Amino acid sequence: SGIMEGSNAKRGLWSSRLAFILAATGSAVGLGNIWKFPYVTGENGGGAFVLVYLLCIAAIGLPIMMAEVLIGRRGGHSPVNSLKAIARHDKLSPAWWMVGALGVIAGFLILSFYSVIGGWAVSYVGTAASGQLTGQSADAIGAIFSDLLGDPITLLVWHTLFMGLVMLVVAKGVRSGLERAVSILMPALFLLLLTVVGYAMTTGEFGRAVAFLFQPDFSKLTTAGVLVALGHAFFTLSLGMAVMMAYGSYLPKNISIAKTSIAVCIIDTAVALLAGLAIFPIVFANGLEPGAGPGLIFQTLPLAFGQMPMGSLFGTLFFLLLIFAAWTSGISLLEPIVEWLEEQKGMNRTVSTLGAGFVCWALGIASILSLNLWSDFAPLGWIGMLEGKTIFDLLDFFTANIMLPLGGLLVAVFAGWVMSRKAMEDELALSAPMFRLWYITVRYITPVAVGTVFVYNLIGA
Ligand code: PFF
Ligand code: NA
Repeated sequence: SGIMEGSNAKRGLWSSRLAFILAATGSAVGLGNIWKFPYVTGENGGGAFVLVYLLCIAAIGLPIMMAEVLIGRRGGHSPVNSLKAIARHDKLSPAWWMVGALGVIAGFLILSFYSVIGGWAVSYVGTAASGQLTGQSADAIGAIFSDLLGDPITLLVWHTLFMGLVMLVVAKGVRSGLERAVSILMPALFLLLLTVVGYAMTTGEFGRAVAFLFQPDFSKLTTAGVLVALGHAFFTLSLGMAVMMAYGSYLPKNISIAKTSIAVCIIDTAVALLAGLAIFPIVFANGLEPGAGPGLIFQTLPLAFGQMPMGSLFGTLFFLLLIFAAWTSGISLLEPIVEWLEEQKGMNRTVSTLGAGFVCWALGIASILSLNLWSDFAPLGWIGMLEGKTIFDLLDFFTANIMLPLGGLLVAVFAGWVMSRKAMEDELALSAPMFRLWYITVRYITPVAVGTVFVYNLIGA
């Protein structure tokens, strides 16, 4: 239980380890796995990037996830207050709550464009259901996508709908039903991905896709690519913005933080790799460009659904499940800022959801316009590293590649250097060598790795 008297008891504990895994998986598995992983892998040359990404998951993401859950459980409150509570209890600087604040802001910024992409998925439910994909050529499928991007009003409608779905759940403050749904719908999404992988195996380019994903060619790996891999590891695991800290505050004391965190990391990674195995055979079989960018899944998966038996049905189901996965992630992005407004500003939940949701929705319009009217507008283009980046690209870059790793770095420093070692041994309940491995990782390896990647990229810029 938390260090504040009776704190967990009042907020209700997760009934089981499974409940925590479902909530954390709901947050982790989302557009990051199915939309972002394949396209950043394609843009960064495949195998070597995937290897670095997997390393980042295992050697940085997992230990940080454990640290976040641990801090949350120890603090027993919302992230900002958990950090304050631990700091007060251990007589540390109160400034540590700013780690939570950084996360609140990052989540808010991410949701603004996440919702726009969620809107693409909403749009494709209709496209698939109406049979428009059946038998179409790669060019025709590409045209459907570029028509969507070129139409700000349609994008706005779907963005609004997606944001509305997220706000609805956050305003009501009940998510238990949704978490139970995760246990049925996530496996369904997994099965549908497997179906597409099965179809992709028949295209004849499956071997090439496997080689692309798993045969590292280090000549294709850039310094910027390493930063993207690191940033994406944080993004996909929902780390660096205190989401896992919030969930950790509900985790009962007798449940292993290590085992539950490993489970979440494995599920998230499996979904991402399956998405890669589904998409790249289609890319190669149709002579498409792996580095096509954010539109990659919307230009490839519809081709598969257009060609396979019962494709309209599978396609409709797939995009519905993708919306569901994005929805549960979107909720975890909005929740922290709403909770913060409630706690700090004394606003009620409905008002804070409407307020934060509206501002986030409005910011999303800048991302929508980046796809069409403002597609040539690169506000920070004079900085080498940011050349040609639209507002949408910049939001993605700063949140995923800067704010989340920075948040993770601070979590690692807090756990590794500030909190008492005894408290952590207590929370993690690992064997002595395993604890030492984790401790050395958060104390030295993570800060050095994240710091080095940052410095190299700054020099490069
Ligand atoms: N992990 C989510 C995904 O992969 O789609 C995105 C995300 C959710 C990032 C929540 C960060 C976060 F706090
Ligand atoms: Na993810």
